[in-house]
Amino acid sequence: MQIIRHPAEMTAWAKEQAKAGHRIGLVPTMGFFHEGHLSLMRRAGQLADFVAVSLFVNPTQFGPQEDLAAYPRNFERDCAMVEAAGVSVLFAPIAAEMYPAGFSTTVAVGAELTGQLCGASRPGHFAGVATVVCKLFNIVQPDVAVFGQKDFQQLAVIRRMTADLNLGVEIVAHPIVREADGLAMSSRNTYLLPQQRESALSLSRALALARTIAAEGERSTERLTTVLRDFIHSFPETEVDYISFVHQDTLQQVAEIDEKTVIALAVKIGGRVRLIDNGLVL
Ligand code: PAJ
Repeated sequence: MQIIRHPAEMTAWAKEQAKAGHRIGLVPTMGFFHEGHLSLMRRAGQLADFVAVSLFVNPTQFGPQEDLAAYPRNFERDCAMVEAAGVSVLFAPIAAEMYPAGFSTTVAVGAELTGQLCGASRPGHFAGVATVVCKLFNIVQPDVAVFGQKDFQQLAVIRRMTADLNLGVEIVAHPIVREADGLAMSSRNTYLLPQQRESALSLSRALALARTIAAEGERSTERLTTVLRDFIHSFPETEVDYISFVHQDTLQQVAEIDEKTVIALAVKIGGRVRLIDNGLVL
């Protein structure tokens, strides 16, 4: 496996592959890998001849009060994990090369997709994501890129940007990978103290509860939200950021559940670890 640090070198590699007629698959990440990331890499391997993984903790998608400095990092361990997953290139640029002096362009997807859910509590976050993913697409020039459904608003934003800007990259969504007890895997789970691990289960259990109640015939998202809020708050140290029922493609809020309704949750545990989860209700 090759480790590439410089954007120009990454693009030179990509051009060589394209000339040889090879398909490139890209998995953008911020590192500190877990099985969720690895399954995206394996999926990319099935869809392309060569897989490039980018590892870049992107400063522009973190708010001033967020965890940029504390974000977990372990480059040695990450290298070993991607190598074992059959990845050809690990692209790990430094911030000064991604955002050199004078950098002043932002890719901003409209408020219909970015104004609610995580966008409401993390202003500027999706502009940071869209900008860095657009740059990564231009640098790596992939045929296909794989993203996790765990960040389902991010996926919708990237699909919109890719279509709107004619980026010509096929976007593939990969299902959420979970721990055995249902907790969605996340690099941020490492922040949880042992006694908070149980409270983190409130998210996946709330999804299951929503499905059970909906299967019994309930369609009102207002009533469901009230039940789920109380359920989540029955776990110690939890604080609901949002419980939203939205259309899977438009992300617009719905009053009544149907087959296309996704329930999306964000919950703060212990006042500092913000976790998300989502899934279709029916
Ligand atoms: P990061 O949080 O490192 O996630 C990288 C990719 O892994 C994303 O597509 C995310 O949805 C996916 N992923 C994370 N946990 C997952 C799980 N449990 N199951 C399935 N997929 C999972 O998302 C980002 O990085 C950044 O915003 C990025 C797109 C790289 C832009 O900086």
